[in-house]
Amino acid sequence: EKGTYPHYMLKEMDEQPGVVRKIIQEYSDANGELAIDASILKAIKAADRLYIIAAGTSYHAGLVGKQYFEKLAGIPVEVHISSEFGYNMPLLSEKPLFIFITQSGETADSRQVLVKVKELNYPTLTVTNVPGSTLSREADYTLLLHAGPEIAVASTKAYVAQVAVLAIAAYVAGQSNGKEVNVDLKQELAIVANGIQTIVDSKEELEQIAEDYLKIARNAFFIGRNLDFCVSVEGALKLKEISYIQAEGFAGGELKHGTIALIENGTPVFALATQEQVALNIRGNVKEVVARGANACIISMEGLNEEGDRLVIPKVHPLLTPLVSVIPLQLISYYAALHRRCDVDKPRNLAKSVTVE
Ligand code: F6R
Repeated sequence: EKGTYPHYMLKEMDEQPGVVRKIIQEYSDANGELAIDASILKAIKAADRLYIIAAGTSYHAGLVGKQYFEKLAGIPVEVHISSEFGYNMPLLSEKPLFIFITQSGETADSRQVLVKVKELNYPTLTVTNVPGSTLSREADYTLLLHAGPEIAVASTKAYVAQVAVLAIAAYVAGQSNGKEVNVDLKQELAIVANGIQTIVDSKEELEQIAEDYLKIARNAFFIGRNLDFCVSVEGALKLKEISYIQAEGFAGGELKHGTIALIENGTPVFALATQEQVALNIRGNVKEVVARGANACIISMEGLNEEGDRLVIPKVHPLLTPLVSVIPLQLISYYAALHRRCDVDKPRNLAKSVTVE
């Protein structure tokens, strides 16, 4: 039930701090340590490469998950769009594990890959929000998101849950492999939950940003580097699907290879700057677009912020910034859609679960 909320999407965005806390709790063992089911841990450790298969927002969560498994567990990962994988299967490693990320557990594009790789006898793991869903039943293993029902067509809390659960799985696998990582993930996730709370409590500011940058915009760009790039593509998808503003997410350095031709006076460019090692580069990209008339909105993080940044998110561990930086992009999209009187919970042409290929 959406209760006093005007839209499910708003309610679900507000639930995100609680979702992260619930995941910490659900994935803690009797000693209070982060843990995943022993059989799943074994399957991950037995793999020489993980193949993440997903669509839409879940694919974007997979892009972040790749970095977690590679950096926290030392396991190589490929991320594939499920609808492409079927007819363009890459050469596989000797011992692959297929990981399906799907909020609904019903996406036909992802299921057709599951069916195919099961025929080849490869092990499969589904990361889903819906216990008992088709992809959960048909895979060997399931990791649940524990985000509660997601009703709004635009996925918000499920993305955050997917990224958090992937971080935990990667971290636990890394620990069990004796990989040295100087992170107390449980504590860092608790800090993330508080950071998300701060942002969902700043709605007036985010509504103002939507008004200042998107009220009359025909198109918009989202740029970032490294993990900020992964979030840029998700920010663009959110804006497109609910406000119908044409939007693209780009790697900051890629813009100059063609797309910068589209920048004109007043074009909104949202630039994420939460990654220290590329902070200077992305700020350089912002200068390039501003010189061509763009209306740039820099979203940085405490400790890396500079004068003129429009929004500064609370400081979190550098690997976990996607969990926090995505929140303002969701809320900005929401308000941009409201300004245009769009049906936020049920955008045109879209269904919550896509059961056709
Ligand atoms: C975007 C959105 C879609 C889904 C995609 C996959 O907000 O909701 O892009 O992420 O259709 O759906 P699932 O995760 O249910 O497989």
